[in-house]
Amino acid sequence: MITENVLCRSDMIRCVLCTDAPCTSVCTRLDPASILRSIWFDNEKCAAAKLPDTNPCIECSAPCETACLRCGQVPVRELIDRMYDEIRPALDAAAPQNEERLKTSICGVPLENPFLLSSSAVSATYDMCARAFEAGWAGAAFKTISTFDVHEASPRFSAIYGNDGAITGFKNIEQLSDHSVEENMAVFRQLKENYPSKVLIASIMGQNEAEWEQLAAECEANGADIIELNFSCPHLTDKGYGSDIGQDAEAVRRFTAAARRGTQLPILAKLTPNVNTMVPMAQAAREAGANGIAAINTIKSVTNVNPHTYVSAPAVHGRSSFGGYSGLAVKPIALRFIAEMRMEKELSDMELSAMGGIETWLDALEYILMGANSLQVTTAVMQYGYRIIDDLKAGLNYYMAEKGIRHIADLVGEGIDSLSANPDHLEKDSVLFPRFMQDRCIGCGRCVVSCADGGHQALHLNNDRRPVLDGKKCVGCHLCILVCPQKAIRPSSTRIIRNPQ
Ligand SMILES: Cc1cc2nc3c(=O)[nH]c(=O)nc-3n(C[C@H](O)[C@H](O)[C@H](O)COP(=O)(O)O)c2cc1C
Repeated sequence: MITENVLCRSDMIRCVLCTDAPCTSVCTRLDPASILRSIWFDNEKCAAAKLPDTNPCIECSAPCETACLRCGQVPVRELIDRMYDEIRPALDAAAPQNEERLKTSICGVPLENPFLLSSSAVSATYDMCARAFEAGWAGAAFKTISTFDVHEASPRFSAIYGNDGAITGFKNIEQLSDHSVEENMAVFRQLKENYPSKVLIASIMGQNEAEWEQLAAECEANGADIIELNFSCPHLTDKGYGSDIGQDAEAVRRFTAAARRGTQLPILAKLTPNVNTMVPMAQAAREAGANGIAAINTIKSVTNVNPHTYVSAPAVHGRSSFGGYSGLAVKPIALRFIAEMRMEKELSDMELSAMGGIETWLDALEYILMGANSLQVTTAVMQYGYRIIDDLKAGLNYYMAEKGIRHIADLVGEGIDSLSANPDHLEKDSVLFPRFMQDRCIGCGRCVVSCADGGHQALHLNNDRRPVLDGKKCVGCHLCILVCPQKAIRPSSTRIIRNPQ
């Protein structure tokens, strides 16, 4: 069962995922920090499979918990005990011995795994890419290279937080690489020399056709494996660049053709989500010589309007601007764009390099099932560091081992057949009622209040504070299931034919 975790972020209570974690420094038998990270990133099964056969926490005084920077507030030993007691006995597979099944390719270029840094702050220098490669990333789309005179504002980021304290949505107003083309070409040469097996994607943005052609040619000459055309930066729009191009199929066609004149390398057109559909732009890119699409770039946004100053964030000398939104919150939007392109027959030969809110291997799997061939990440790396690659790779590898899947390609697009662009195409003659698990219910009544005020008034609490369903009123919308804090409501196992009125 991969959808319901035995252990999850809320079990970790106050763990902050520290660097050089003291819990690990004081433990002589295990690496508790890495085990806790695996729980955070939905990879607890593989982590449990890797534990030694006998639990070293039995008869241990748990120095990890006292060394913790939030001393005593993280139940490290209890979490490891639960890995032994609840997760290990239910495992279907041993921890994989190698990463062979993660090997794949992007536009014909071999990838040791499907995970790449996306073009951004995380891939801006030699040192950053080198450290990411050492950590296990298969490659990087380097920070967009241009001839623009780039000056950045301070501050340039803002964040929206979830209840677990983690960033769920991230806004940036950052522009392009602030290094010259020449400096970046020197970085490319050095990266290719020292990391020949890692894939280097050159993200470029020209100011006219000649520049798109020239930049593509220079990046090829200096060792890039793939050219990515940035038609999607939302922060250069008053100049008619960036996402202005990605909203105009003819401009996409013109600049893709220009880049194609400059290079023989595979080309990815990176498209903007600030449109209704990407399909016409993707088709134009394909017709002009692109081999694939990278998507999504960030979504134009306003965040955190200050109630006292009335200025939104990030505030720069009392003013702000629209900026690009990324991170977990944008994943459903990005998945729709990826699925929509994968559904399009005319784009069936196009590679899709997908991004938008990938934090865990499960996020990555969702993209693969919706048709992505490779995956790119920024915001999660900005929040947690390059180290997330460990759980991305291990989690996906373990899932594939469990399912007996040998190649990523066997999963690509496997979720598409069950997806329709229009809910009118779904069966509407039967209802799936909710089922209430009395042993889990604590009688909070959240299901009742949501059903009363946002549903069909089909629930009330009985004298024992347990929900009672009125089957005549229930339409099977499942709002009660979604809001239950105890996860005490589930869908029934059988559908009931709707009563014809
Ligand atoms: C700080 C920051 C800088 C970015 N800079 C670029 C860039 O230079 N070129 C580009 O194509 N995309 C850029 N992006 C967009 C990311 O590559 C990516 O498309 C987007 O953030 C969605 O992925 P994520 O949710 O994993 O961050 C940037 C994103 C962030 C957060």
